[in-house]
Amino acid sequence: MKTKGRSVFVCSQCGFESPKWMGQCGGCGSWNTMTEETVTALSAQAERGRGQGEVRPPSPIGQVASSEQKRLDTGIGELNRVLGGGLVKGSLTLISGEPGIGKSTLILQAAAKLSHRYGKVLYVTGEESEEQVKMRAERIGGLSERLFLLAETQTERILREAESLEPVFVIIDSIQTLYTEQLSSAPGSVSQVRACAGQMMRYAKTSGVPVFLVAHVTKSGELAGPKIIEHLVDTVLHFSGERQHDFRILRSYKNRFGTTSEIGAFEMGQEGLRELSNLSESFLEEASYGTEGAVITAVYEGTRPLLMEIQALVVHSGVGFARRTAVGIDSSRLSMIIAILEKKAGLSLLDKDVYINVTGGMKPEGTSTDLAVAAAIYSAARGIAVSQRKMIVAGELGLTGELRSVRQSQRIAREAERMGFSAILLPAGNGEKLKETPQLKVYCAKNLRQALDICFSGETGR
Ligand SMILES: Nc1ncnc2c1ncn2[C@@H]1O[C@H](COP(=O)(O)OP(=O)(O)OP(=O)(O)O)[C@@H](O)[C@H]1O
Ligand SMILES: [Mg+2]
Ligand SMILES: [Zn+2]
Repeated sequence: MKTKGRSVFVCSQCGFESPKWMGQCGGCGSWNTMTEETVTALSAQAERGRGQGEVRPPSPIGQVASSEQKRLDTGIGELNRVLGGGLVKGSLTLISGEPGIGKSTLILQAAAKLSHRYGKVLYVTGEESEEQVKMRAERIGGLSERLFLLAETQTERILREAESLEPVFVIIDSIQTLYTEQLSSAPGSVSQVRACAGQMMRYAKTSGVPVFLVAHVTKSGELAGPKIIEHLVDTVLHFSGERQHDFRILRSYKNRFGTTSEIGAFEMGQEGLRELSNLSESFLEEASYGTEGAVITAVYEGTRPLLMEIQALVVHSGVGFARRTAVGIDSSRLSMIIAILEKKAGLSLLDKDVYINVTGGMKPEGTSTDLAVAAAIYSAARGIAVSQRKMIVAGELGLTGELRSVRQSQRIAREAERMGFSAILLPAGNGEKLKETPQLKVYCAKNLRQALDICFSGETGR
């Protein structure tokens, strides 16, 4: 029994609070994430947000100084793009990602470049020693005279150092290691992470210095996850990739200063992260043209088209039920595509396992990959390859088997041409408007049946 302070159980993943311990969180449904924390009067005060203490009358909107135009160039084009055109002064950005994905590397690269361009940068390392960070900087060519390292985890001390250094950019690596002396709970607990993020928010807003908070994605309940401070920050970035691949994708899930549909692409290597401005080329490097089960498709991500390969494998199921496994594609979308194939293309997949993979570890958003997924499954099931080796297939599938238009087919066609493709198959709604060029033949289909006829015409199987 606790006598002092009110004790509550808080979910480390979503921040849900309960007076009693629960095995499963009532907010997000995670298991074993409820941890006990003591609520003190101070924590409520610490969380209250910016402008605390000072009283200012409301200002007419026209007289509020606008600083939106003041963006810093991070020196990394792909990062600038995801941020909405550079780093906004006074903004607070959260960057999350699995352990070892390359968060520190990305931010250190940006830090070094920003320091060359604009002035002092403060890199606060709560996780690694200054030596470790220096070794990384040496490896990736990120040494700079104006880059300052501080191994410190107490927020008050960090803010004092920041105020005397007067940097142009501050990095906290990571927010889960920070603590404030105002709270008695452990670093990494929900209340500490929230309070420290709140303090950094106030610093960013009052000083105009942009701040990056690095946060680990945690599966267990010991550390508070990035979700609990997403509402507080201006921008939420997520850095992802697959361990087997060197590709890394940076996405924004929330951005008060730009769109959230942009993606940034990188390749991890010995010298750090290399920007991939020609992603299609990287994705298609090992494409298996003319192989059964492989179809090249295009998606429009952010402001650019991307070409990628969809692979399907269809095998007889050994066990009683058929397996459907999708990597990179939503599995309920896959079930729908399979149902449409059975109904509209006469394919029987009842006793077949179906596997789908998007090469390069990509997870394309949207539905424009539907037709390519269907064509890949059809190709794998029938054992016939797409008859034209260099053809792009794109389109959304409706439940009746009709094809729906995709976004930006003009730009997709241009990208296909640039990458040396000789044909493109699109829904009639797109294809009829598209001008054919001597390099690129345009095929249109109204429905799945027509599309499959075009894909596999003249092929007799093997
Ligand atoms: N010498 C090296 N050559 C190539 N790649 C390396 C080398 N050293 C590290 N890496 C890559 O860098 C990754 C670690 O990068 P980084 O420390 O920036 O990740 P992080 O997301 O900050 O990880 P953490 O969760 O530990 O903080 C490794 O997983 C590896 O892919
Ligand atoms: Mg790190
Ligand atoms: Zn929860």
